[in-house]
Amino acid sequence: MKIIDGKSTSLEIQQELYDQVLLIKENGGKVPHLAAVLVGNDGASQTYVNAKVKACQRVGFESSLIQLETSISEKDLLAEIQKLNDNNDIDGFIVQLPLPNHIDESKVTLAISPKKDVDGFHPQNVGRMNLGLPTYLPATPNGVMELLKRYEIETSGKNCVVVGRSHIVGSPMSILMSKKDNPGNATVTLVHSRTKDVKSITKQADILIVALGVPEFITADMVKEGAVVIDVGIHRIDDPSAKRGFRLKGDVKFDEVAPKCSFITPVPGGVGPMTIASLLMNTLKAVKNIYE
Ligand code: GUN
Repeated sequence: MKIIDGKSTSLEIQQELYDQVLLIKENGGKVPHLAAVLVGNDGASQTYVNAKVKACQRVGFESSLIQLETSISEKDLLAEIQKLNDNNDIDGFIVQLPLPNHIDESKVTLAISPKKDVDGFHPQNVGRMNLGLPTYLPATPNGVMELLKRYEIETSGKNCVVVGRSHIVGSPMSILMSKKDNPGNATVTLVHSRTKDVKSITKQADILIVALGVPEFITADMVKEGAVVIDVGIHRIDDPSAKRGFRLKGDVKFDEVAPKCSFITPVPGGVGPMTIASLLMNTLKAVKNIYE
């Protein structure tokens, strides 16, 4: 069994980006500038956004953090987004999800200029991904693809089971894995909350990608011997004995599943750090007109 080290892979990519930024600076080009919008003070979202901003600094990108009150109206948030669309110094930006209940997430997604949508959530970019046209790939699925590529995991002709159908992970993951590409070319099954007998399907998986959002949902009896298991879940589980008062767990019961796997991603230190690397890769792309 081999642990897929997302943390070191992410740092490796960040080093590559740092080198590219040096070249840009030497040639007098535009240094990529990422803006992140954070609405409210959800602890996990704050941690993620801070990590994104810090990573920008590490690779030499410019970054801006726009913090807004939970009570901001939808209209005012849309106005902030318009400002970012119009600001020529900002190459790409993200609005951290989830948003407070009084704000319509899809209106926000639609308001972001597709050219600056480094999350790849705008319908134009989702459509381009589906058609295999140049686009921004969503950060988490692209991070998983990058791990499969860098660990030289064979995906062609394999049975890939994706657990979860969210717009952010499960759905795009299933599309990317079925594409005529490498990684890709897998036979993909998407499992969701209405699927009957989930275990009989996950047991067929050569590659099992879990993005369900239920802590430790996947147990050893649901996994085939020798499978590649990618755990996208991340949950804060209360633990008074831990320094921060919580422990991080994934969607996979790691201790019992790991011994059965050929490869597995841990939580933390697996897919999570790769999400940041993908976002930075998209931001570098955003300096150019990617649609041309
Ligand atoms: N919340 C959870 N994942 C993501 C992501 O990839 N992008 C944004 N903007 N919010 C998220």
